[in-house]
Amino acid sequence: MSTIKLGDKAPNFDAETSEGKINFYEYLGDSWGILFSHPADYTPVCTTELGAAAKYKDEFAKRNVKVMALSVDGVESHKAWIKDINETQHTEVNFPIIADEDKKVSNLYDMIHPNASDTLTVRSVYVIAPDKSIKLMITYPASTGRNFEELLRVIDSLQLTANYKVATPANWKHGEEVVISPSISNEDATKMFPKGFKEVKSYLRLTPQPNLD
Ligand code: BEZ
Repeated sequence: MSTIKLGDKAPNFDAETSEGKINFYEYLGDSWGILFSHPADYTPVCTTELGAAAKYKDEFAKRNVKVMALSVDGVESHKAWIKDINETQHTEVNFPIIADEDKKVSNLYDMIHPNASDTLTVRSVYVIAPDKSIKLMITYPASTGRNFEELLRVIDSLQLTANYKVATPANWKHGEEVVISPSISNEDATKMFPKGFKEVKSYLRLTPQPNLD
């Protein structure tokens, strides 16, 4: 069993998918990645989630994110289910779904939690940076569909904090003030953040989001 932690290198794999055989790293290229698992095909919550992910195509493209889904059902099942998703969710699934019948990828990414279900994958999400490091892991129960706005919000935060010495506060959204990393002195902060900053406490300094005009 795998024990993936934040900062680890995302394991690479070859897998059968609804779009043919894919090597994960080749698929990702230099993009960011989201790998997310589903309990099973032809289930209601999963149907809405895959439809929702498909509708965020432009938002993922803007952020240079490639998406890949997974369930332990087979390729033919995925292909037939995709038709249902397209029909019922009024979209077109535009990313591959791994057919992980032998649970190779599920085990590699620790997506089966035996005390929840021996056989089905839970709703795991991994966000992977272009250097293939794992930046986010979230696990939801089968009964709760994911919030894709939250995934976009975290990716915005990750992409911002990869380039600036800032972090994003509670409930932050793109465009709002960010906090300056405590390791930066006020003198350096003045140079790094020309829009200025507010010092609420010595350890809590707010500045406008630095990558916006
Ligand atoms: C669903 O996707 O609706 C679902 C899957 C497994 C268990 C419960 C719900």
